[in-house]
Amino acid sequence: MAQYDVIVIGAGPGGYVAAIRCAQLGLKTACVEGRETLGGTCLNVGCIPSKALLHASHQLHEAEHNFATMGLKGKSPSVDWKQMLTYKSDVIKGNTTGIEFLFKKNKIDWLKGWGSIPEAGKVKVGDEVHEAKNIIIASGSEASPVPGADVTVDEKIVVTSTGALELPKIPKKMVVIGAGVIGLELGSVYKRLGSEVTVIEFLDNITPGMDGEIQKNFLKMLKKQGLEFVLGAAVQKVDASKTKAKVTYKLRKDDSEHTLDADVVLCATGRRPFTDGLGLEALGVEMSPRGQIKTNAKWQTNVPGIYAIGDAIDGPMLAHKAEDEGMAAAEVIAGKHGHVNYDVIPGVIYTAPEVATVGKTEEQLKEEGVAYKVGKFPFMGNARAKAVFQGEGFVKMLVDKATDRILGCHIIGPGAGDLIHEICVGMEFGASAEDIALTCHAHPTFSEAVREAALACGDGAIHA
Ligand code: NAI
Repeated sequence: MAQYDVIVIGAGPGGYVAAIRCAQLGLKTACVEGRETLGGTCLNVGCIPSKALLHASHQLHEAEHNFATMGLKGKSPSVDWKQMLTYKSDVIKGNTTGIEFLFKKNKIDWLKGWGSIPEAGKVKVGDEVHEAKNIIIASGSEASPVPGADVTVDEKIVVTSTGALELPKIPKKMVVIGAGVIGLELGSVYKRLGSEVTVIEFLDNITPGMDGEIQKNFLKMLKKQGLEFVLGAAVQKVDASKTKAKVTYKLRKDDSEHTLDADVVLCATGRRPFTDGLGLEALGVEMSPRGQIKTNAKWQTNVPGIYAIGDAIDGPMLAHKAEDEGMAAAEVIAGKHGHVNYDVIPGVIYTAPEVATVGKTEEQLKEEGVAYKVGKFPFMGNARAKAVFQGEGFVKMLVDKATDRILGCHIIGPGAGDLIHEICVGMEFGASAEDIALTCHAHPTFSEAVREAALACGDGAIHA
């Protein structure tokens, strides 16, 4: 029986980062993972493989739509789906083996198998029981069933994001249930690869919780790309055969029932914490009604020595939020002051254009009665964006009316997922829009649009 200072359960972005930080802080560390490879949902069947397919399908879009204009002549590339999946698998392998290397480098033991906690201070993997002064649960999440609907996922015709990354062929017709991040990213991939894609969404807007202006413009852009939307509609059931499916939904405004045929149905109506088999009930670990492990501000559960982080606890289900909690929990265990600023966690949708957001939305500021100013700048006024056919979208900055302090920023446009971090750093330092506006930004870059939005909060943007 091995003895550890820390055993982390789960090697996703929360768990493997926690393990590495524990080891860096001098703690003897092991990480339990039952998958064949490290990296969890994100690296194996989530963020990373979907980004590979988004990248490949975006290149196809560029070739089909912009190459000729730039003087690049020739037949448009055709899609070799098998090769695209091989490319995606190679990307996964490169990343997951990278984590294995980091584990070795940091002398972290990978305990292979599914872990459970028979009692505080002990982790069982297979027949072996290991002792640990501290346990960090980082067991992640799984796709939720479509709420209130009769839908059976077979991961062939009716799929979650996992099956959607491994389809045997590109479907002619795809129905996506849910216009959240997964539905729109994977819907975009298949639309670009030639599928007819219809997204059915329960609410009247896409991307719930995002700034209203972003929602509206994003919807317009996706429609222009050929995605179809049925909003305000609740899916009732999916009848699937071995090769086809029929989706029945009701429009909320008049209760009328409709159907859509599809070759593949992607269920993307959210995820829920995955804590099966850990033995938490017997241990008396407190859970929320939504199945999340309850933790305090130091990621401690009510059972001494047991911590929890990532998708298994409260908060946005984002890899980077889990990573931050992993580092912070490790620091708490090592006697330091782990901290996560939940007010500055960016969210990114990796479509084209990308959408990125941090801090408050305009709707939230109105609801909270905060006096604010808006600074907006369109990418059409950004020379670099126009030069590369990416002039769609804008930067919207929300700042406190009295102090000019940045309260939120919402970007739809080229490189939005990278641009947002200037604002994140600014917000961490309590920056004002003027601080961003007075900072020299290299020309010609997309980032000038962020500076221009900051200028628009003051005496005005230059190129608008
Ligand atoms: P989501 O919570 O983002 O969106 C689900 C959507 O489904 C909502 O708009 C909801 O109104 C709708 N819906 C629910 N029931 C419905 C019904 N019966 N009929 C029609 N629509 C219905 O969930 P999603 O996209 O599945 O993502 C799961 C989690 O994974 C999220 O927390 C997301 O942030 C995370 N994720 C993040 C990524 C990123 O950061 N780029 C990428 C992929 C996932």
